[in-house]
Amino acid sequence: MRLVIVSNRLPVRLVEKDGRIAVEPSAGGLATGLEAYLSALPAESPFDEKPLWVGWPGRPLTDRTGLDIFQAQGRAFDIHPVHIPEDEMNAFYHGFCNAVLWPLFHYFPTYVSYKDSSWQAYEKVNTRFLTALEPLVREDDVIWVHDYQLMLLPRLLRQAHPLAAIGFFLHIPFPSHELFRTLPRTCRQALLHGVLGSDLVGFHTYDYTRHFISSVSSILGLSNTMGRLAVEDRPVVADTFPMGIDVAKYADAAASKPARALADNLRRSLAGADIILSMDRLDYSKGILNRLAAFELFLKRHPERLEKVVLMLVVVPSRTEVKRYQEMKKRIDELVGRINGKYATMAWTPILYRFSCFPLGELAALYAASDVALVTPLRDGMNLIAKEYVAAKNGGTGVLILSETAGAAAEMGETLMVNPRDIREMAEAIETALTMDRDAQIRINQTLFTRLTRFDVRHWAGDFLDSLFGVRDERRRLE
Ligand code: G6P
Repeated sequence: MRLVIVSNRLPVRLVEKDGRIAVEPSAGGLATGLEAYLSALPAESPFDEKPLWVGWPGRPLTDRTGLDIFQAQGRAFDIHPVHIPEDEMNAFYHGFCNAVLWPLFHYFPTYVSYKDSSWQAYEKVNTRFLTALEPLVREDDVIWVHDYQLMLLPRLLRQAHPLAAIGFFLHIPFPSHELFRTLPRTCRQALLHGVLGSDLVGFHTYDYTRHFISSVSSILGLSNTMGRLAVEDRPVVADTFPMGIDVAKYADAAASKPARALADNLRRSLAGADIILSMDRLDYSKGILNRLAAFELFLKRHPERLEKVVLMLVVVPSRTEVKRYQEMKKRIDELVGRINGKYATMAWTPILYRFSCFPLGELAALYAASDVALVTPLRDGMNLIAKEYVAAKNGGTGVLILSETAGAAAEMGETLMVNPRDIREMAEAIETALTMDRDAQIRINQTLFTRLTRFDVRHWAGDFLDSLFGVRDERRRLE
């Protein structure tokens, strides 16, 4: 039996550097989380063949160069890149995924810009994925489709392969029915029908599952019993599977000699100042501007902390071709400049800002060196950075300040929880974190670490796949 993962974004993407095509890791929870799972399938996994990951390589595949690069990489799974012409990709990815689904599902309805032509491109690209899968899919494959870019694909697959085991997982929030219903009728119905082509539909939190079920019931008129639905006489289950991480990967990386040396260097170069870490993909859903405003207010309210604290602001480039993201980047640059201009002294800069992506070793060093992590998205499906920070701390000191509107909040209740829109509360949380008793920090981090270890990425995938097999077997019994 073989596992076939299908997602819009592959774990690596092709980029053009100095006139040559190269491969870079992709950003975001889906890519990092799933890659960690596939790279070390647990011994008890039912899959006896190399998994296959099908997705878009980040640019059009105009010749064999891209394909050869993917095939040359020695991985625990095979990669099949899907060619999507540039104009189609623009209308699908920018026009529908980034301009409709992303803002709506993250509770930014005023950012939604719906066009029929983009919806048509969304339908077209989902069909293109089906066409790419057709020659690859084998009878006993388990097909696991991921995220909001491919919500129509499960139904298309079901029509082509009525007996296949098909799962769907949404990595972002599923919004309240009141928001979801603002989509045009044909579109909202098609999205729900599309997802329901699966045997199992998974979400990060119980709230997202509940929102999905209430949309299915009010828009499609389908009733459910505890998340179990009957769709054209097929059982379909909607359930909650909070995604975990590869805990040892971050704990080991942070404990490694090079990471410790890097962390020591960083601390020394900052003359022992307390380090607050802020790290996200560039995105308006991440609440970076609010966080900067909170840090500014904190400096204003706590003059005794001037020159004794540093905010390490890391923003990972993402969707940089989109105007709204470019504007946000500009506003971040300006705000950082203004705060630094106002508070910096000859010997101290309050915000150290990097707009780049970090390799694991440096990332782990940053986690290890920081006293506080400020993870305050306005909305986030899960947020794996919060989990990575705790894993890297491995039960030691360090305080996580976490937004109550990140999916991770449902499992990390012991952290300092904040409302990411309440600047005052966040500013005070920074002070609370910096003065928190070491024993209390250790106690909290040990509890969180134990939970993260138990519910890691392997547990997440294993649990999802076990449930998927359960629904598939039930369907087969009924046939
Ligand atoms: C989030 C989404 C992923 C997406 C990632 C990066 O994590 O859940 O589906 O791949 O962001 O965004 P991008 O638009 O670059 O794929």
